[in-house]
Amino acid sequence: MFNWLDHYQNNICTADEAVKAIRSKDYVIVSHACGEPRSLTRAMSERYADLRDVKVVHRVGMGECLYAQPGMEEHFRHISLFGGVNTRKAIYEGRADYIPRFISETPSLFLEGHIPVDVALITVSPPDKFGYCSLGISVDYSLPAARMAKIVIAEVNSNMPRTLGDSFISVKDINHFVLSDFPLMEVAPTIQTDIEIQIGNYCADLIEDGCTLQMGIGAIPDAALAAMVNKKDLGIHTEMFSDGLIPLVEQGVINGSKKTLHPYKIISTFMMGTKALYDWVDDNPLVEMHPENYINDPWIIAQNYKVVSINSALQIDVLGQISADAIGPKQFSGVGGQVDFIRGAKRSVGGGKSIIAVPSTASRGTVSRIVPALYEGTAVTTTRNEVDYVITEYGVAQLAGKTNLQRLNALVSISHPDFRDEIMFKAKKLYYGA
Ligand code: COA
Repeated sequence: MFNWLDHYQNNICTADEAVKAIRSKDYVIVSHACGEPRSLTRAMSERYADLRDVKVVHRVGMGECLYAQPGMEEHFRHISLFGGVNTRKAIYEGRADYIPRFISETPSLFLEGHIPVDVALITVSPPDKFGYCSLGISVDYSLPAARMAKIVIAEVNSNMPRTLGDSFISVKDINHFVLSDFPLMEVAPTIQTDIEIQIGNYCADLIEDGCTLQMGIGAIPDAALAAMVNKKDLGIHTEMFSDGLIPLVEQGVINGSKKTLHPYKIISTFMMGTKALYDWVDDNPLVEMHPENYINDPWIIAQNYKVVSINSALQIDVLGQISADAIGPKQFSGVGGQVDFIRGAKRSVGGGKSIIAVPSTASRGTVSRIVPALYEGTAVTTTRNEVDYVITEYGVAQLAGKTNLQRLNALVSISHPDFRDEIMFKAKKLYYGA
């Protein structure tokens, strides 16, 4: 009879001992974002002299990402699922690779054998009385990878909340346990400027009582949430969420009562926020975490009532093409769940909406985000065929069903006034030979 407690106690070790299980040429999948097992990634990086050509696969790297720094080229190769502040330079410089892949289809990278899962490095909550550990704030691709890995090394972090849902891994499926009380990484709420507040108000105007929301991270989603205080019976089915959600739940604005899938539950796959958020979700029956190939599957999303997705972008051309993960040939972030939720919202019960909400300018007002044509070499994130609403601080442009000329006029009308004439002149010259 397998005794999980014996297995657990007999396989507790230090991070340095645990990462000895990693061999040269291994593919190592690391838990996402604030759920990164920092004791393990640091110990793995410090073991560089013993290792050659280890592939390190993850989405947003919030830690030091030492394996992606110059000088590590023969020891590690980072394969990025989403560029971050400590990894995008390595991608630009060819020292790391980026895989374009919808979040909904990332676990199938492992399932279909595109990426072997030799070792999974995950962060979990301490085991419960049944011998199960929760992946807490980062279930996403981390749990599917751990379920497929040849070897699983878990940082058992006393600060990792025990989130509920399909978020658990049995102790018997983990090979090595490294105890830690590292504080989880946090992302502080962004300061909302008047621009974000105005954009948030426009977003809120499109949201009816009873809608099911998906929103990303940052000042705009937080501003949109703050503008919804007078809405009723909102639901949440979202790829990720942050602290901005809590006040609306506590005020009863978000109660999931009209949801047609997982009613009354906040459904998500990862979160990035502060300790207050992590404490709030601990053992909270309102919150259910699931792997991302469930949460982000457009056909699952579509089973929700009146889905509204709110995402952002870097550049929008006058045809309605959205660049949300690259600036010219430089990879900035990743597709994330943007397209998953645009497609799911479109098909949702009762009809849904998708919003791309951006400030009209970037780089401290020196460039327009609405452009005649994307920078040369830019990868398109969302095609013009499926973009619905575009919002800036100057207003709302609905592109679905509109002609190219109507799109041009609608997008110029919500661009920053200083750039309107130039955009119109260049666009007419480019597309109409004017
Ligand atoms: N030209 C040049 N620089 C630009 C630019 C443009 N068109 N657009 C943005 N930038 C710069 C900004 O000025 C900023 O630089 P700075 O930090 O030096 O000021 C930087 O790029 C980031 O821009 P910002 O608007 O602050 O990004 P953000 O943190 O709000 O994230 C996205 C915006 C689009 C990158 C982010 O939403 C994303 O990655 N989206 C794709 C994934 C997705 O939609 N996921 C779904 C839910 S999470």
